[in-house]
Amino acid sequence: MKIIMLGAPGAGKGTQAKMIAEKYGIPHVSTGDIFRANLKAGTELGLEAKKYMDAGQLVPDELTVRILLDRVAQDDCKNGYVLDGFPRTIPQAEVLEDALTKLNDSVDYAINVEVPDEAIVERMGGRRACVKCGATYHIVNIPPKKEGICDTCGSELILRDDDKPETVQKRLNVYHEQTQPLVDFYSKKGILKDVDGTKGMQEIFAEICGILG
Ligand code: AP5
Ligand code: MG
Repeated sequence: MKIIMLGAPGAGKGTQAKMIAEKYGIPHVSTGDIFRANLKAGTELGLEAKKYMDAGQLVPDELTVRILLDRVAQDDCKNGYVLDGFPRTIPQAEVLEDALTKLNDSVDYAINVEVPDEAIVERMGGRRACVKCGATYHIVNIPPKKEGICDTCGSELILRDDDKPETVQKRLNVYHEQTQPLVDFYSKKGILKDVDGTKGMQEIFAEICGILG
């Protein structure tokens, strides 16, 4: 099963993608996580991506597409995957489609997690992310058992650099301009499924499971 998570920054794509990955036994592939892992490891790719991420802009398609196609060609992606944060532009979606068509394959579902901009800004300020495993929490909505510490791996939780309010607004603008057109793109292909992302995370997950079967 090949699933795409669509939605604004902070809509809950990552939260839901992790739960889907676990339930269906497929890898969770997040381009944002890949860039952050590279940054942490000090690779050239990470440093290049950081320039765009910190400014709230998209990393250029050429670079992002290369990373993503490499990742989904790995063995663990044979039976499918859930893509979180990719595609983010029409050209990215077209590259993915071409690559899959060559394999006689296609995306099964594009799940669009809908959350209004006002709610996004509140969520991002409260988000804390694990420096090691990438798990995300919210200081009020989804707090870790122990403040500042990841439940899953015990590492430190931090506020992402790009979650500062002024950068969040820029990311939302970029989303509306460059990523939202994908809703139409996948709707025309008949695989778009909207879910109300303002509900509780378990409720949203139940709705998604109903869609995926
Ligand atoms: P990326 O890491 O993908 O960030 P994003 O899309 O901006 O999305 P987020 O990770 O911020 O939000 P999310 O939807 O995953 O929400 P989450 O589950 O964490 O990308 C970062 C940057 O990398 C981009 O800006 C860009 O520069 C670059 N990049 C990445 N991919 C790229 C691409 N394809 N092309 C070009 N550039 C790319 O939830 C958010 C918060 O809300 C958390 O605190 C969570 O605990 C909480 N929450 C979740 N669900 C709920 C709920 N139901 N109720 C209440 N709170 C909730
Ligand atoms: Mg995410």
